[in-house]
Amino acid sequence: MTDLDTFARAQRAIAECRRIAQMSEEPGRITRRYLTPPVREVHALLRNRMQALGMAVVLDAAGNLRGLMRPAGGDARRLLVGSHIDTVPDAGAFDGVLGVTLALELAELAQQQKLRLPIEVVAFSEEEGARFGVPFIGSRAVAGRFDPALLALTDREGVTLHEAIRSFGLDPEKIPEAAIGEHSLGCFEIHIEQGPVLEAENLSLGVVTSIAGQSRFSIKFVGRANHAGTTPMNLRRDALSGAAEWIAEVEALAKRTDGLVATVGRLDLHPNAGNVIPGEVTLGFEARHPEDSLRQQAVKALLDCASSIAARRKLGIESICEMDQSAVPMDERLAAFLSEAIESLGMPSRRIASGAGHDAMVMASRVPTAMLFLRSPGGISHHPDETVRTEDVEAALRASLKFVERLAAEFR
Ligand code: GLV
Ligand code: MN
Ligand code: MN
Repeated sequence: MTDLDTFARAQRAIAECRRIAQMSEEPGRITRRYLTPPVREVHALLRNRMQALGMAVVLDAAGNLRGLMRPAGGDARRLLVGSHIDTVPDAGAFDGVLGVTLALELAELAQQQKLRLPIEVVAFSEEEGARFGVPFIGSRAVAGRFDPALLALTDREGVTLHEAIRSFGLDPEKIPEAAIGEHSLGCFEIHIEQGPVLEAENLSLGVVTSIAGQSRFSIKFVGRANHAGTTPMNLRRDALSGAAEWIAEVEALAKRTDGLVATVGRLDLHPNAGNVIPGEVTLGFEARHPEDSLRQQAVKALLDCASSIAARRKLGIESICEMDQSAVPMDERLAAFLSEAIESLGMPSRRIASGAGHDAMVMASRVPTAMLFLRSPGGISHHPDETVRTEDVEAALRASLKFVERLAAEFR
C-alpha cells in the first residue's frame, strides 16, 4: 500500500463529503435533519458504495444504514466503524459524514489486506437532536438504549418521532432489533475535532480520552401578549425580556465557571410580531462540563435563577429536561492501540477530551469504544466554513488502518 493510495482515498473521502453536502433540505445551505428527504439520497449513495464492497446492507428501524463486511471464515463478531449523517441547520460538510466516508475507505483497505476482522460500517441516522430536540436517536437504537417513550417526541411541525419513522417506510416497533448483541467487538468513530486544540499544537490527530457530559432543556417563559403601543412599561409581562435577562445570566455563570460551557441556541417566539409584546418564548438551553457534578450544580443554579426572574416579572415558567447525559470515558485499551497506531506513523499521539457530543458516547455504554480526532482548521464547526486538510484525513486513515490491523491480529 503506497502513500499515494491513501492520499487518493483521503481525497475521495473528502469529495464524497462535498457531494453529500449537496443533499440538503435547503438550497444553498447544508441542513439534513433526521429522516428528511435528502437522507434517502445519502442512503442511496452509501448503499451503492457498500454493495460495491460486497457488504451485506441493512437499513435498521431507526434509519441507520449499516454495511457488514464479513471476511471468509469470519464469525458474527464485528467492529462497528462509523459516525452520523444528519446535520445541524446550516452545517459544514464534514461533521459526522467524514467519519462515514473514511469508514468505507478503511473497510476497503481492510478487505484488500485480507484482514480477518469483520467490520460493520454504520451511518448513524441521528446524532444532533436538530429535529426532535433529543440527540443520539440512531446510536441509542444500535446500543440497545432506545427508550420507546421517545417515540412521542414531536418536531416543530408537530410530527411525532413515531410518525416520522413510519413515513420513512420503517417500523418503530422493530427498533429493539437494531441493537447489537454480544457479538460486537467494539466501536470506532473517526471525527473532526470541531475545536482549536490540535491546530494550536500543529498536530494532525488526537486520541479522545473522554466525552463531556451534557444537559439539554426546553424552557418556556409565559407572559401576556398585548399591544406594544398602548401597554405602559410597568404593566407588561414580556416573556422575551424575562428570557433575555436569564440568557445573560447563563453566559455570566458559564464565564466564571472553569470548564463550563452553556448556550441558549434556539428561541421560538410567540406571536413574533414587531408591534406585539412577546407572550411566550421557548428556548433551547444546553450546558456541558467534563465533570458531571459541576455540570449538574450549574444547571440547578441556572434553573433556580430562571424561576426567580420569572417570579419577579410575573411570568409563568416550564422546563423540560430533554437530556442528562453523563461524561463518558473512552476504552483505555483501545485508546492505547490508537496511540500506538499514531506513533507508528511517526506522529505524536495527543490525548484530548471532547467537548462535543458523539455517537461514541452512547456506544461506549455497550461496547469498548475508541475515537480518533483530526484537526479542524480554524477550530470551526457547526458552520458552513467547516473544513479539513487532505493530509490530516490521510493521516487519520493510515492510523485507523494500523488500529484495525492491531485488532485483527488479536482476533481469532
Ligand atoms: C454534536 O455535534 C454536539 O456536540 O452537539
Ligand atoms: Mn455536530
Ligand atoms: Mn458530529
